[in-house]
Amino acid sequence: MAIAHRGASAYAPENTVAAFDEAIRLGAAAVEFDVRLTADGIPVVLHDATLDRTTNGHGAVARRTWVELLRLDAGSWKHPRFAGTRIPTVEEALRAMDRRAIPVLELKTPLDPQRLHRLLADHAVLDHAVVLSFQAQLLAKLHRCMRRLTLGLLANRWRPGLPRLCQQVDAQILALSYSALTLQRAQQVAGEKRRLWCYTVNDVAAIAACTAVGVEGVITDYPDRIGARPKT
Ligand code: G3P
Ligand code: CA
Repeated sequence: MAIAHRGASAYAPENTVAAFDEAIRLGAAAVEFDVRLTADGIPVVLHDATLDRTTNGHGAVARRTWVELLRLDAGSWKHPRFAGTRIPTVEEALRAMDRRAIPVLELKTPLDPQRLHRLLADHAVLDHAVVLSFQAQLLAKLHRCMRRLTLGLLANRWRPGLPRLCQQVDAQILALSYSALTLQRAQQVAGEKRRLWCYTVNDVAAIAACTAVGVEGVITDYPDRIGARPKT
């Protein structure tokens, strides 16, 4: 399964509606995006804690109100043709996807479970969305409030007991860095009846390696490369 990383971020400014639309056009089954909170508590889509890399703003997003973010350009840094592209709220991201792809929300900061529930329910994606986090305890808390929600634990390194930890916090998915992937580890994940995703896999040969060891979901900046044949 092709999971577009921050949307089709190789082709359009990451974590914007333009990148989500492009991902869907290229056939991504799912679209991953990063969630942070503004100073006035609005969930918005941005990877970094600060605005500097991907917008014409500066400083911490958590210190800016939503109205302040509305003035920022989140597209020009990628290419002038994206000038005027805004940082979307999570609400806008879900509306733009309109159930055409599985929304995969990575919580970069804890979000109130009731608030998250309302957002997902309002867009009829409670049974459809996936929520990822590097924090196992955050996933456990979400599971207590939303039993139906599909959860995934992110890990940038392998450690013994990782598949078991997923079981303990009711994360159906382990989303592992590609750099930590081995056949033996993939088998351990399958042995614990967890689903294995890998990030961020852009190279066609690496995508083929994921498929060969049974990775179910590949998080990639190039969703059009999933299914492409590696050069021999
Ligand atoms: O969700 C997988 C991947 O996106 C985690 O790393 O830094 O791209 O958010 P990062
Ligand atoms: Ca992410």
